Amino acid sequence: MNMLEKALERSLEKSKNADDKAELKKSEKDSLKAQSEISEPISEHQNSAADVVRFDWNRLGELGFIKKDDSHSRIAEEYRSIKRPLVTNALGARKFDINNANLILVTSSIPGEGKTFTSINLAISIAAEMDKKVLLVDADVAKPSISKVLGIKTKVGLIDFLETDSIPLSDIILQTEIPGLRIITAGKSHKFSTELLASNKMIALSKELSERYPDRIVIFDTPPLLATTQAEVLASQMGQVILVVGAELTPQNYVMESVKKLQNCSDVVLALLNKAQRSLNPGYYGYGQY
Ligand SMILES: Nc1ncnc2c1ncn2[C@@H]1O[C@H](COP(=O)(O)OP(=O)(O)OP(=O)(O)O)[C@@H](O)[C@H]1O
Ligand SMILES: [Mg+2]
Repeated sequence: MNMLEKALERSLEKSKNADDKAELKKSEKDSLKAQSEISEPISEHQNSAADVVRFDWNRLGELGFIKKDDSHSRIAEEYRSIKRPLVTNALGARKFDINNANLILVTSSIPGEGKTFTSINLAISIAAEMDKKVLLVDADVAKPSISKVLGIKTKVGLIDFLETDSIPLSDIILQTEIPGLRIITAGKSHKFSTELLASNKMIALSKELSERYPDRIVIFDTPPLLATTQAEVLASQMGQVILVVGAELTPQNYVMESVKKLQNCSDVVLALLNKAQRSLNPGYYGYGQY
């Protein structure tokens, strides 16, 4: 129990009415929990300092990801321009025009178009800014890759949280070595994962993440739109959607179909990210028109 909580306990003892006491305790504990998640001190539910996720920057660099303290590489430059409109929509003047503007879903039409690559790079790029906070959520629960790519061992994640009422949100939010970056992994595999992602609890979680942390950008890595219904279900809860398109990989009619699905499901701001192979630069591929 930390000092704040001890002080709370003492003030509760003085309370005359037992019912009021229970109510007060619950609401103040909730508010303490919310505060601790926002302002970093480690609460009883959070991971200890030993659990802070550290990244293997050399390996990430070899895989083409943005590297730590590397703001001049081409990939860092590209993500600077990709993130700008997203951040402006999420935190700038436009946030009042868009519902849940700080919730960003990353999807694609078919597998392997670069969703996870995009989600991680965006998260690192935004969190690298001093005053920005990012929560990266692996919502590709059938084929989770964020843990794999980032070398995270923790098993408890989104699905565990959705499945039961006994795991507090703070237990699944991992701290990382980047102060502004937190991660929620996909958690265990579950045969009803689609239903869990479409559940009221997931809707409540999205709402809570958007409203409780209005200064935080939440990025959801999701499955391909045309393969499962999960991304479509989630998209209706988001403010912004990035549709990653493999320029030389995805047939145009697939892209049109995906756009149609997204247009049907909600009033989101849709961005197309065109992952183009650059013929002038053999072996290199990056992101083009946005
Ligand atoms: N711009 C890029 N530069 C270098 N490598 C990339 C780029 N985009 C994607 N890749 C690589 O391509 C492969 C597929 O990308 P990724 O895993 O991000 O796709 P995905 O859409 O998440 O796939 P899945 O549908 O299987 O989840 C990965 O090895 C990734 O590192
Ligand atoms: Mg992926």
